Amino acid sequence: MPMAEGRVAPPAGDGGGGGGDGGGRPSGEALHLVRRFLGSLWPGGPGARDEAWAVAELLPGEVGLWRRMSGADRRHAVGVARRTADELGPAASRPILAAALLHDVGKVDSGFGPWRRSIATVLGVVFGHRRASGWRYGRGPLARVGSYLSHDEIGADLRAGAGSDTLTVRWAREHHLPATRWTVPQAVGRALKRADDD
Ligand SMILES: [Fe+2]
Ligand SMILES: [Fe+2]
Repeated sequence: MPMAEGRVAPPAGDGGGGGGDGGGRPSGEALHLVRRFLGSLWPGGPGARDEAWAVAELLPGEVGLWRRMSGADRRHAVGVARRTADELGPAASRPILAAALLHDVGKVDSGFGPWRRSIATVLGVVFGHRRASGWRYGRGPLARVGSYLSHDEIGADLRAGAGSDTLTVRWAREHHLPATRWTVPQAVGRALKRADDD
């Protein structure tokens, strides 16, 4: 998948993450992506216990962002945060968990659901990620495609505006970059990336 600026390719149907081993074989990865896509069609949010746990880990400004996310995105985000907490144990600080919970918050800007996300991801592959991301400065439907493909940068700006910790903001911007370009501690980035199974 051709990507600009060493960016890690996001999967079709989500446009976020790019991590996970997906079984390590093309067929296993395809199956994993299909499962993720089908799961994203279910609109419900996380259960009440997970929702309360997530909100308790967020700053007041971050809670506002959290509530703008779709139910499917919040379900995914809680899973990422829980897996990160399991892996890091006591080292899983509040800013790290907020980074997991809000890693894809920039997707709220496009307002795309699963189907249009899939189309946007394909367009990013066909036209090149850098070029397609630049569409966000234009108008019309392609601007929303560009917004979706720029959700990492948009998410970082949103989190900075919400008063997030520096690490939380940085992970928004870096969660699709290769590890060599992370500014977050490598152990933290690895745990967050592994937990982000999309
Ligand atoms: Fe993402
Ligand atoms: Fe993700």
